[in-house]
Amino acid sequence: MLSKNIEKLLQDQVKKEASSSQVYLAMANWADVNGYPGSAQFLYTHSDEERMHMLKLMKFLNERGCQAEVPALNAPKKEYSGLMEVFKAIMDHEITVTASINNIITACLKENDHLTNNFMQWYVSEQMEEENLARSIIDKLEMIGADKSSLYLFDRELGEFQAEH
Ligand code: FEO
Repeated sequence: MLSKNIEKLLQDQVKKEASSSQVYLAMANWADVNGYPGSAQFLYTHSDEERMHMLKLMKFLNERGCQAEVPALNAPKKEYSGLMEVFKAIMDHEITVTASINNIITACLKENDHLTNNFMQWYVSEQMEEENLARSIIDKLEMIGADKSSLYLFDRELGEFQAEH
Protein backbone atom coordinates (compact mmCIF):
# COMPACT_ATOMS: atom_id res chain seq x y z
CA MET A 1 0.00 0.00 0.00
CA LEU A 2 1.11 3.52 -0.69
CA SER A 3 1.03 6.15 2.03
CA LYS A 4 -1.62 8.85 1.60
CA ASN A 5 1.10 11.40 1.00
CA ILE A 6 2.83 9.39 -1.76
CA GLU A 7 -0.52 8.53 -3.32
CA LYS A 8 -1.42 12.24 -3.48
CA LEU A 9 1.95 13.12 -5.00
CA LEU A 10 1.55 10.42 -7.66
CA GLN A 11 -2.02 11.47 -8.46
CA ASP A 12 -0.75 15.04 -8.88
CA GLN A 13 2.00 13.75 -11.16
CA VAL A 14 -0.64 11.97 -13.26
CA LYS A 15 -2.24 15.36 -13.77
CA LYS A 16 1.08 16.97 -14.72
CA GLU A 17 1.80 14.29 -17.34
CA ALA A 18 -1.76 14.55 -18.69
CA SER A 19 -1.40 18.29 -18.88
CA SER A 20 1.97 17.95 -20.67
CA SER A 21 0.29 15.74 -23.26
CA GLN A 22 -2.41 18.37 -23.86
CA VAL A 23 0.10 21.25 -24.03
CA TYR A 24 2.22 19.42 -26.64
CA LEU A 25 -0.89 18.50 -28.60
CA ALA A 26 -1.91 22.17 -28.80
CA MET A 27 1.64 23.08 -29.85
CA ALA A 28 1.52 20.36 -32.53
CA ASN A 29 -1.70 21.82 -33.92
CA TRP A 30 -0.16 25.29 -33.96
CA ALA A 31 2.92 23.99 -35.83
CA ASP A 32 0.73 22.03 -38.24
CA VAL A 33 -1.20 25.10 -39.40
CA ASN A 34 1.77 27.48 -39.35
CA GLY A 35 4.01 25.78 -41.90
CA TYR A 36 6.12 23.54 -39.65
CA PRO A 37 5.09 19.96 -40.52
CA GLY A 38 8.28 18.37 -39.13
CA SER A 39 7.90 20.13 -35.79
CA ALA A 40 4.22 19.16 -35.76
CA GLN A 41 5.16 15.51 -36.20
CA PHE A 42 7.73 15.81 -33.41
CA LEU A 43 5.18 17.43 -31.10
CA TYR A 44 2.34 14.97 -31.85
CA THR A 45 4.69 12.12 -30.98
CA HIS A 46 5.86 13.95 -27.86
CA SER A 47 2.23 14.37 -26.81
CA ASP A 48 1.73 10.57 -27.16
CA GLU A 49 4.85 9.97 -25.05
CA GLU A 50 3.47 12.17 -22.27
CA ARG A 51 0.24 10.18 -22.33
CA MET A 52 2.34 7.05 -21.92
CA HIS A 53 4.09 8.66 -18.90
CA MET A 54 0.65 9.33 -17.42
CA LEU A 55 -0.57 5.76 -18.07
CA LYS A 56 2.54 4.25 -16.50
CA LEU A 57 1.82 6.18 -13.29
CA MET A 58 -1.85 5.20 -13.39
CA LYS A 59 -0.98 1.50 -13.69
CA PHE A 60 1.45 1.81 -10.80
CA LEU A 61 -1.19 3.46 -8.60
CA ASN A 62 -3.73 0.73 -9.47
CA GLU A 63 -1.22 -2.03 -8.77
CA ARG A 64 -0.36 -0.53 -5.39
CA GLY A 65 -3.87 -0.66 -3.96
CA CYS A 66 -5.07 2.79 -5.10
CA GLN A 67 -7.32 3.84 -7.96
CA ALA A 68 -5.82 6.28 -10.43
CA GLU A 69 -7.91 9.36 -11.11
CA VAL A 70 -8.48 10.86 -14.54
CA PRO A 71 -7.87 14.57 -13.93
CA ALA A 72 -9.83 17.56 -15.23
CA LEU A 73 -7.57 19.81 -17.29
CA ASN A 74 -7.59 23.43 -18.40
CA ALA A 75 -7.40 24.09 -22.14
CA PRO A 76 -3.78 24.78 -23.14
CA LYS A 77 -2.47 27.89 -24.87
CA LYS A 78 -3.18 27.81 -28.63
CA GLU A 79 -1.05 30.55 -30.16
CA TYR A 80 2.73 30.99 -30.35
CA SER A 81 4.92 33.66 -31.91
CA GLY A 82 7.26 31.06 -33.40
CA LEU A 83 9.18 27.82 -32.82
CA MET A 84 11.51 29.51 -30.34
CA GLU A 85 8.60 30.35 -28.07
CA VAL A 86 7.31 26.78 -28.39
CA PHE A 87 10.60 25.16 -27.41
CA LYS A 88 11.35 27.66 -24.64
CA ALA A 89 7.92 26.87 -23.20
CA ILE A 90 8.75 23.15 -23.45
CA MET A 91 12.05 23.71 -21.65
CA ASP A 92 10.37 25.66 -18.81
CA HIS A 93 7.62 23.08 -18.60
CA GLU A 94 10.03 20.16 -18.35
CA ILE A 95 12.10 21.91 -15.67
CA THR A 96 8.92 22.17 -13.59
CA VAL A 97 8.14 18.48 -14.19
CA THR A 98 11.67 17.49 -13.15
CA ALA A 99 11.31 19.46 -9.90
CA SER A 100 8.05 17.68 -9.21
CA ILE A 101 9.64 14.26 -9.80
CA ASN A 102 12.54 15.15 -7.51
CA ASN A 103 10.01 16.15 -4.89
CA ILE A 104 8.33 12.72 -5.09
CA ILE A 105 11.68 11.00 -4.71
CA THR A 106 12.54 13.11 -1.65
CA ALA A 107 9.19 12.09 -0.10
CA CYS A 108 9.86 8.40 -0.92
CA LEU A 109 13.26 8.58 0.79
CA LYS A 110 11.75 10.22 3.88
CA GLU A 111 9.10 7.50 4.10
CA ASN A 112 11.42 4.60 3.23
CA ASP A 113 9.28 3.79 0.19
CA HIS A 114 11.99 2.10 -1.88
CA LEU A 115 9.59 0.56 -4.35
CA THR A 116 8.11 3.89 -5.46
CA ASN A 117 11.56 5.44 -5.42
CA ASN A 118 12.78 2.67 -7.71
CA PHE A 119 9.77 3.11 -10.01
CA MET A 120 10.34 6.88 -10.21
CA GLN A 121 13.97 6.47 -11.31
CA TRP A 122 12.72 5.80 -14.86
CA TYR A 123 11.19 9.30 -14.82
CA VAL A 124 14.46 10.82 -13.62
CA SER A 125 16.33 9.50 -16.70
CA GLU A 126 13.47 10.44 -18.99
CA GLN A 127 13.48 14.02 -17.66
CA MET A 128 17.21 14.35 -18.23
CA GLU A 129 16.77 13.26 -21.86
CA GLU A 130 13.82 15.59 -22.42
CA GLU A 131 15.58 18.61 -20.94
CA ASN A 132 18.73 17.91 -22.96
CA LEU A 133 16.74 17.56 -26.16
CA ALA A 134 14.83 20.80 -25.58
CA ARG A 135 18.09 22.59 -24.78
CA SER A 136 19.78 21.35 -27.98
CA ILE A 137 16.77 22.40 -30.08
CA ILE A 138 16.82 25.90 -28.54
CA ASP A 139 20.58 26.15 -29.27
CA LYS A 140 19.94 25.28 -32.92
CA LEU A 141 17.08 27.78 -33.18
CA GLU A 142 19.33 30.47 -31.71
CA MET A 143 21.93 29.77 -34.40
CA ILE A 144 19.31 29.86 -37.15
CA GLY A 145 17.78 33.16 -36.03
CA ALA A 146 15.56 34.63 -38.73
CA ASP A 147 17.09 32.68 -41.64
CA LYS A 148 14.01 31.20 -43.33
CA SER A 149 15.76 28.56 -45.42
CA SER A 150 17.67 27.22 -42.38
CA LEU A 151 14.41 27.17 -40.46
CA TYR A 152 12.84 25.14 -43.26
CA LEU A 153 15.68 22.61 -43.10
CA PHE A 154 15.56 22.53 -39.32
CA ASP A 155 11.85 21.73 -39.40
CA ARG A 156 12.40 18.93 -41.89
CA GLU A 157 15.22 17.54 -39.77
CA LEU A 158 13.06 17.56 -36.66
CA GLY A 159 10.40 15.51 -38.48
CA GLU A 160 13.07 13.06 -39.63
CA PHE A 161 14.56 12.88 -36.13
CA GLN A 162 11.17 11.94 -34.80
CA ALA A 163 10.66 9.26 -37.44
CA GLU A 164 14.00 7.64 -36.42
CA HIS A 165 13.32 7.62 -32.62
FE1 FEO B 1 6.62 13.30 -18.89
FE2 FEO B 1 7.95 15.54 -20.41
O1 FEO B 1 7.54 14.84 -18.80
